[in-house]
Amino acid sequence: MLLHSLSTFTLLYLLSLPRLATASVAYCNNQDYESGALGEAPYQTYNAAPFKPVQLNYALPPVDCPSNSQVSGYFMLSPLGSNLEMTGGGYIMNPNGTMVYFSSGFGPVVILRGVFSYQGQDHLGLWVSDGTSATPAGHGSGWNLLLDRTYNVVAKITTSGLSVGADLHELHITSDNTAIITAYPTNNADLSAYGGSTNGYVLNPVAQEIDIATGNAIFTWKALDHVSPAECYAPLGSTATGYGVATDPWDYFHMNSIQKNDDGTYLISSRHCHTLYLVNSAGDILWRMGGKNSNFTLNEGANFTWQHHARFRGSGQLSLFDNGATEWEQDIPYSQGLLLDYDDSAMTVSLSSARAPYNRTNTVSQGSLEFLSDGNSIVGWGAMPYFSEHDETGNIIWSAQFAAAGSGISSYRVFLKDWTGRPSVRPSMKVTSPFSNNITVYAWWNGATEVTSWELLGSRLITPLKATSLANASKTDFETSLVYSGSGYAYYQVVAHNANGEILQYSNFTAIDGTTFGPADNQTITASPLM
Ligand SMILES: *[C@@H]1O[C@H](CO)[C@@H](O)[C@H](O)[C@H]1NC(C)=O
Ligand SMILES: *[C@@H]1O[C@H](CO)[C@@H](O)[C@H](O)[C@H]1NC(C)=O
Ligand SMILES: *[C@@H]1O[C@H](CO)[C@@H](O)[C@H](O)[C@H]1NC(C)=O
Ligand SMILES: *[C@@H]1O[C@H](CO)[C@@H](O)[C@H](O)[C@H]1NC(C)=O
Ligand SMILES: *[C@@H]1O[C@H](CO)[C@@H](O)[C@H](O)[C@H]1NC(C)=O
Ligand SMILES: *[C@@H]1O[C@H](CO)[C@@H](O)[C@H](O)[C@H]1NC(C)=O
Ligand SMILES: *[C@@H]1O[C@H](CO)[C@@H](O)[C@H](O)[C@H]1NC(C)=O
Ligand SMILES: *[C@@H]1O[C@H](CO)[C@@H](O)[C@H](O)[C@H]1NC(C)=O
Repeated sequence: MLLHSLSTFTLLYLLSLPRLATASVAYCNNQDYESGALGEAPYQTYNAAPFKPVQLNYALPPVDCPSNSQVSGYFMLSPLGSNLEMTGGGYIMNPNGTMVYFSSGFGPVVILRGVFSYQGQDHLGLWVSDGTSATPAGHGSGWNLLLDRTYNVVAKITTSGLSVGADLHELHITSDNTAIITAYPTNNADLSAYGGSTNGYVLNPVAQEIDIATGNAIFTWKALDHVSPAECYAPLGSTATGYGVATDPWDYFHMNSIQKNDDGTYLISSRHCHTLYLVNSAGDILWRMGGKNSNFTLNEGANFTWQHHARFRGSGQLSLFDNGATEWEQDIPYSQGLLLDYDDSAMTVSLSSARAPYNRTNTVSQGSLEFLSDGNSIVGWGAMPYFSEHDETGNIIWSAQFAAAGSGISSYRVFLKDWTGRPSVRPSMKVTSPFSNNITVYAWWNGATEVTSWELLGSRLITPLKATSLANASKTDFETSLVYSGSGYAYYQVVAHNANGEILQYSNFTAIDGTTFGPADNQTITASPLM
């Protein structure tokens, strides 16, 4: 019997060997990963937790790779692409590449939008597709969710008075508890002047500000009301821009970022018009930066095309991701994250600093540039599955990849954020008994950021429950194994401890056959509630 189970185990192990090849912490300068020899999308596996997260490789490693302890916070990324092992969520990851949270269970396509202050507390933003259309290079219809630090949904945010739901390109929560979102309705239009039909169809992207509490729109700006297609650069009649028909409307404007400013104006980025528009609350365009009708003179190095993620940064500065390329055109040798100085009386823009990619590659779509409080920045390379940190002058410090170059896997934006998560659902566990007198229990708690160790408890009976401590293990990865060498217990439970040794939460009790029972009535949490 023992021999039989041993050989079955060995056989299964051998059969599954190639799938166990990935590490949990990030690789450091792994050439096989870079070349694609490990596959287009190397992934991590666990013994029991039902997740197969992307494996990171620091192609340009930090000094203490894989720890990357200079970085404080969590990477937030949302890989999309057909060769991913696991889909339907975005990631929170430690700087060393171990997973903290996968946002599955909300819909077929989920993009993690970062951390926002809402009603004075940190919330996680998610965009969820309604399943109709969701390519990041294109657009989507769906809704945004705000999750509190227990991962409960506290707000669902979508459009108001439009024919489509919220699009994926922007989510930004203001200090007035409103949401800034994009939407991509289609208009019937005479497109004969642009090579289309008199009975043509064009996307008319909308910037909306939504009062989260009521769902009402307090600002609605429709691109076609203000900007003529003659002002833009994306030709009608290609797979990337649309053929101008009902099933494939022309994407003339391509709105991809909106920022609401303290003075009530909005900064709207149009990729296909190469322009940033400053718009007042009445919808009037106050100025254009870039493109055919720029009010600003863009000095050398400050010009941009097909850009993403424009953000004001203090007075007289703004940042953006300059793709300088699209699916059908390349204007510059490689994309860059730009910090620009602008003067709105002299109407000039000049380059403050530029961030170049590790491999000097082009990003034809997507991309982000986030400034950290110390002046360093994180660039998400969009259609290229990389992200990197840069110092104040723009020099690259490290670069990580979450898929092989050329895999077609992308992340619309990538962030580095602080976050505390303590899920309202109990920790998960699986009890196995690979050998007699050997109980191995796997514990995980998707999204919990405070757990530093796990404790295994066992009870001989379910009534009365008398839980005895059987083992402890420090937590160093998403899943933790706890081993008890002995017998006599029929019901097992795991307990999550924080760095002070306090109890964060108990799992259910689980019998060896997988049957679950609630925890004991007198098992109390000793960690203080999240403030
Ligand atoms: C960098 O470029 C080399 C040579 O083209 C390529 O083999 C490698 O995959 C690239 N690495 C990354 C991270 O893009
Ligand atoms: C921007 O240029 C337009 C003409 O293209 C002009 O009407 C407008 O006054 C200018 N705005 C500023 C702020 O210079
Ligand atoms: C910016 O202008 C320079 C000089 O005219 C040009 O070579 C470059 O392609 C432009 N950059 C972009 C992103 O178009
Ligand atoms: C129990 O089994 C696990 C594998 O599941 C193994 O790692 C561990 O060394 C075993 N411990 C003992 C004491 O047999
Ligand atoms: C809970 O109750 C059980 C039996 O009723 C007892 O053995 C155990 O010590 C109690 N635990 C705590 C933490 O009070
Ligand atoms: C596990 O650690 C706890 C303290 O958190 C301790 O009370 C318990 O005795 C330990 N269990 C074992 C089996 O060492
Ligand atoms: C990975 O980083 C996290 C956060 O710093 C840490 O808790 C964990 O122990 C690290 N894991 C490994 C295997 O180094
Ligand atoms: C714990 O058990 C309750 C029912 O007693 C169940 O609703 C819940 O899903 C279980 N939690 C986990 C993480 O399995």
